[in-house]
Amino acid sequence: MRLRHGPIYGIYFGSAPAIMIADADMLKEVLVRHFSHFHNRRETPFDDYPLNKALSRLEGARWKLVRNTITPAFSASKMKPISLLINNCCDNLIKHMRSSITTNPDIEVKRLYGNMTMDTIAQSAFGLEVDSQENPKSPFVEHAKAVMNLKMYHPRVFIALMVPQLAPIFNYFKLGLFPTRTKQFFMDVTTQALNLRKDGKNKRVDILQLMADAQENHDHSESGEIPELAGNKEKDGHSVMKKELTMEELMAQAVVFFLAGYETTNVSLSLLSYLLATNPDMQEKLYNEIQEAALTSESLSYDVVNKMEYLEMFVNETLRLYPPAAFADRVCTQDITINNINFTKGTKVFYYIYSLHRDPKYWEDPEKFDPERFSKDNKDKIHPFAYLPFGTGPRNCIGMRFALLVVKTAIARVIQKFRFEPCEKTQIPFKLGKSTIIPDEGITLRVIARE
Ligand code: HEM
Repeated sequence: MRLRHGPIYGIYFGSAPAIMIADADMLKEVLVRHFSHFHNRRETPFDDYPLNKALSRLEGARWKLVRNTITPAFSASKMKPISLLINNCCDNLIKHMRSSITTNPDIEVKRLYGNMTMDTIAQSAFGLEVDSQENPKSPFVEHAKAVMNLKMYHPRVFIALMVPQLAPIFNYFKLGLFPTRTKQFFMDVTTQALNLRKDGKNKRVDILQLMADAQENHDHSESGEIPELAGNKEKDGHSVMKKELTMEELMAQAVVFFLAGYETTNVSLSLLSYLLATNPDMQEKLYNEIQEAALTSESLSYDVVNKMEYLEMFVNETLRLYPPAAFADRVCTQDITINNINFTKGTKVFYYIYSLHRDPKYWEDPEKFDPERFSKDNKDKIHPFAYLPFGTGPRNCIGMRFALLVVKTAIARVIQKFRFEPCEKTQIPFKLGKSTIIPDEGITLRVIARE
């Protein structure tokens, strides 16, 4: 499409006209300069309580207020204690890898990291120690999987996305995206977790606690500036003036961290491992950097992880070639003309991250995996709007810092102890999956203990 029509073109999304953008300069206009006209996402046809209260779905002033309230929970200073939780989950991951390879060294890495990612988000978002690696049948794991196994090509999801006019019918029959008992389960977990903390005895360092603190303290110092929003409307009978987040809203945020964070983080870790296995020289370079940093699970803090230059270059290049979120969307809230293109109120705008990341206009030899693009000497040459794995502007990924911390910590801890190699089952090159960027059957690699 992009080659045939250029970087900006019109498409029909179901029966609704939409504009697809894969042009870095236009994205600067839409996502940042004229953000006030493009602050909402397109509606999904489900009024799927409680997820309609999640940050990713909220609109206008309520979105702005919730975003401002919870942003401090993801600040650099708050990530420092969270990195201890992540390291605990990595201890379990390493233990589990050691025992797995004694019976079979060929491991499907998406499943392997899936458990670790689930533990990390469960601990960091809900304050729950799940250890899904040891307890794959725990109710938390069962319900989290029900939420996450919902694929784009599930008939209900597909119909809902393509024919949004069916929304009233879905809502009438209460056909939400997620099983009712799963929603109830998460509601109960959040209520219990918050009640436990209310008496002050169970104060923990997790995102739920940080969100609760952030609203108590109205600590918006690290929120950043969100401009005034055009064409704003109040929804769901919410009073925008009501400053506190309700219990439902807190729960919706914790659940959406799973939805937005699980698959994306898991896919990133799987791809990183594949690219390390298929680029042994780079894997050794990374191992040497890790050895120099002399990591221990206690010392691998937020600061240490962020000082590892080659790790950063490798992660950035992985997310360029294989962005786990291939596209993102906005809706125009008020008519505007930008560079001779008319955006009318209600127009859906998609931006195509995958295409942007492989465009020869912005990247030399774009199909080549080359972490050196992100070296100190080269990174300033990159167009700032041509590399957007986490989106950009005031509505970018709120979990970016957390996701990068999980990914970098896990890879550093794993590569310190193990080496990845391709095995007979490794597809090189691999085929993209139906709804994700990695093969549907996952990625199998040989894992070899270093000592
Ligand atoms: C490698 C992992 C991840 C990638 C590549 C990723 C990517 C993205 C992208 C592209 C967007 C859309 C940005 C836009 O519309 O401009 C987004 C939004 C979002 N992400 Fe992530 N994400 C990741 C991990 C996470 C994690 C771990 C969390 C939660 C802890 C998270 C929470 C969210 C939320 C809540 C939004 C919506 C923000 C809003 O509407 O204000 N993401 N993410």
